[in-house]
Amino acid sequence: MLARAALLLPALAAFASAQSIPATASATDLELINAQYDNSGLDDQGNAGFGVDLEAQAVLSVVYPSFGLVQNGNAYTADQVADAPEIFVTPSNSTAAWFNETSRYTLMLADASSLGDPDTRGNYRHFLANGLTGAAASGANLTFEPVDGTVITEYTAPGPIAGTGPHRYAFLLFDQPSSFQAPSNLSSPGVSAAPWYVSDYVAQTGIRLVAASFFTVQNGDPTGSVASTEAVNTATLAASSAASSGSPSGSQTSTSSAPSGSSSTGGGSNAAGKSVVSVAAGLVGLVGLVGVAAML
Ligand SMILES: *[C@@H]1O[C@H](CO)[C@@H](O)[C@H](O)[C@H]1NC(C)=O
Ligand SMILES: *[C@@H]1O[C@H](CO)[C@@H](O)[C@H](O)[C@H]1NC(C)=O
Ligand SMILES: *[C@@H]1O[C@H](CO)[C@@H](O)[C@H](O)[C@H]1NC(C)=O
Ligand SMILES: *[C@@H]1O[C@H](CO)[C@@H](O)[C@H](O)[C@H]1NC(C)=O
Repeated sequence: MLARAALLLPALAAFASAQSIPATASATDLELINAQYDNSGLDDQGNAGFGVDLEAQAVLSVVYPSFGLVQNGNAYTADQVADAPEIFVTPSNSTAAWFNETSRYTLMLADASSLGDPDTRGNYRHFLANGLTGAAASGANLTFEPVDGTVITEYTAPGPIAGTGPHRYAFLLFDQPSSFQAPSNLSSPGVSAAPWYVSDYVAQTGIRLVAASFFTVQNGDPTGSVASTEAVNTATLAASSAASSGSPSGSQTSTSSAPSGSSSTGGGSNAAGKSVVSVAAGLVGLVGLVGVAAML
């Protein structure tokens, strides 16, 4: 643990000024994330999305060593997301009790392909860990890091095939029921990244989606037509009218929900099929550098 903390220090210092991991989540923050998730088509059934609804109970902050905090719906290059991020969970005052010492979490990174161009093989599993622990911190800042647990699939960096449009990647945090049992073929470490269906895994295990952070990565210009999504109008969020005026997070992030098109920088600097498997040290305290696998 000591070594891990020391290794992370320079990186943390580098992006400390750019990141803003909140101290608590407001009802508006959570509704905005739900709306962005739906607008990105991530709740769509089958292989069009993950087929799982989000009712966020916390803000999920994904902090990559290369640039800092992921903004939902923004486009990043494959290089920017090559190394595993650090993950933080920030409940609201009213949901903090649900993140306690007995809570266990499943965390995954999955690819829903580009909007309007689903992958016929399903979603793609880029990371999977379960049995993670962590409780809301006490005091004014409720943020905590989910730790320990079992890493089933090591972090396998996004590297979409050239021309397939802006792929939608999401870190998904689930609350595990006390009866949780991992499917037998996904119960021990060392399972490669591969296509699967998030909704099947959710149905099999009874886990509940409680937080998500999502972004896109694109490799070259799309060769087919790709749908784009609309920005969330924060004024339409139910919690907005109840919240005090000038909610900074609400208005700030309202423009960042268009995953495709607008802010894409192409990501084409990365060769097709490139993949990087890296250490998820900051995430689960696991150390070990693994080989390179073919992936999407
Ligand atoms: C809350 O705590 C997290 C993790 O301890 C920290 O990174 C973040 O900066 C804090 N946020 C605020 C607003 O103080
Ligand atoms: C702890 O959190 C779990 C959900 O993660 C919940 O089922 C349980 O009731 C909570 N316990 C307390 C004492 O709030
Ligand atoms: C959450 O609780 C903290 C400390 O208990 C308090 O300072 C803060 O105002 C509360 N926030 C909301 C939105 O109720
Ligand atoms: C695990 O088993 C299920 C059927 O129960 C199958 O659909 C899946 O492809 C298998 N492999 C992985 C890695 O999920």
